[in-house]
Amino acid sequence: MESFRIRLDYNNMLAEFVGQDGINPAEIDKIQAKIDAAVAAMAAKRDQMAWRDLPHNQDNVVSDILAYAAQVRAKFDTLVVFGIGGSALGPIALQQAIHSPFYNICQTHRSGGPRLFVADNIDPATMARLLDMVDLKTTLFSVVSKSGSTSETMAQFMIIKNMLEQNLGKSAAKDHLVCTTDRENGNLIKIARTEGYKTFYIPGGVGGRFSQLCPVGLLPAAICGIDIRQLLAGAAYMDDLCKSDNNPAYMYAILHYIAMMRGKNISVMMPYADSLKYIADWYAQLWAESLGKKYDRAGNVVNVGQTPVKALGVTDQHSQVQLYVEGPYDKIVVLLGVDSFHADVEIPKTFADVPSLGFLGGHTLARLLTAEQQATEYALMKAGRMNMTITLPQVNEFTIGQLLYMLEMATAFAGELLDIDAFDQPGVEEGKNATYAYFGRPGYETKKAEMDAAPAKNPKYII
Ligand code: PA5
Repeated sequence: MESFRIRLDYNNMLAEFVGQDGINPAEIDKIQAKIDAAVAAMAAKRDQMAWRDLPHNQDNVVSDILAYAAQVRAKFDTLVVFGIGGSALGPIALQQAIHSPFYNICQTHRSGGPRLFVADNIDPATMARLLDMVDLKTTLFSVVSKSGSTSETMAQFMIIKNMLEQNLGKSAAKDHLVCTTDRENGNLIKIARTEGYKTFYIPGGVGGRFSQLCPVGLLPAAICGIDIRQLLAGAAYMDDLCKSDNNPAYMYAILHYIAMMRGKNISVMMPYADSLKYIADWYAQLWAESLGKKYDRAGNVVNVGQTPVKALGVTDQHSQVQLYVEGPYDKIVVLLGVDSFHADVEIPKTFADVPSLGFLGGHTLARLLTAEQQATEYALMKAGRMNMTITLPQVNEFTIGQLLYMLEMATAFAGELLDIDAFDQPGVEEGKNATYAYFGRPGYETKKAEMDAAPAKNPKYII
């Protein structure tokens, strides 16, 4: 386990390394009372954070998922997940992290698992092509919604339910649908019970963006052959690390908090591994939706938060790094690195007589990638730009479990430091409610009237 422990290196957040823009350890001491209060709040609110139980209390759930996954793998060649936000980003991130990028197009890479498509957006052209491409007879559709009422996911569910019933008949259709939702609340659970769909539950106290380690993430992962026990073991291991004095999640949050207080309103996550690209996507939602808030807990208008930016090493060295090194001092950069890749490719000693190319020969692509990561860290440090690096000894279920759990803990702790509710999303609800009103959903008449009263667009400004 120790050899797969992930590491947080925050040297380059400190003034000692990046100069005047960096953090002085005395600044951490200065907010010690705030840190202590946040630590106490994390303990006091433990019961309201059911997502922290997920690494420990799911033996039965995991058994049920694995048994169902075995049946699905024997019967279906394609799995389509309908869900959005927390219900989609985690499954995508996990699939991309653990499996080959060519999983869907290469049977050998799939080792008998079904192809996986996560249809989060409702772009009609994409949806039409997806439905054209899959064979209904051999496809399982997984509908994931905590609230059971999100318009996008429920619209997709209605489309597919109808198609399955028309093409396969009502009785066969139900074996092609599985639901993951709240045990008590929302439309989806009621429909699932009436129709007799196989159902998995999102525990109360586990919000969308904190749901990756419950059936939302575990079910598609298990169906695609990801070792979900190791994933949870990694999260449990990080939970233990978070009990030590050197809590990596809390340190991550403290450094971000100090940076935010100094006006660093942008937090870049830049993995140096294609497998981690979508972890940055998942994290962007977690950080943005949890911390971007108008009010603090006392009801004061604070408008806090930090805009997450997703980048990819080395690709974005040729795109965004120029801005990070020389642009405004408004951001911090979190690099994600990997010690050991699952495969490597050697660069041949071709052009040994051309010095400006010959130096590459005999090295591997992993060595080149790591050198470029170190070079970016160095360039940022030299330019006085705060950055830190999280390193995974290898990308596997155990290290990804640690990473996900660490970032969830860091987010919750940052919420405490900011004194905001990291678990609600009133801004998202506003958009959802406005959509309901546009569509004339009963109960949203007042919202519709409010929207109708808003100033009409002036054609003069549309050119
Ligand atoms: O994190 C969240 O709560 C949101 O992003 C939700 O996951 C998203 O809005 C989808 O909601 P639901 O799972 O209720 O369909």
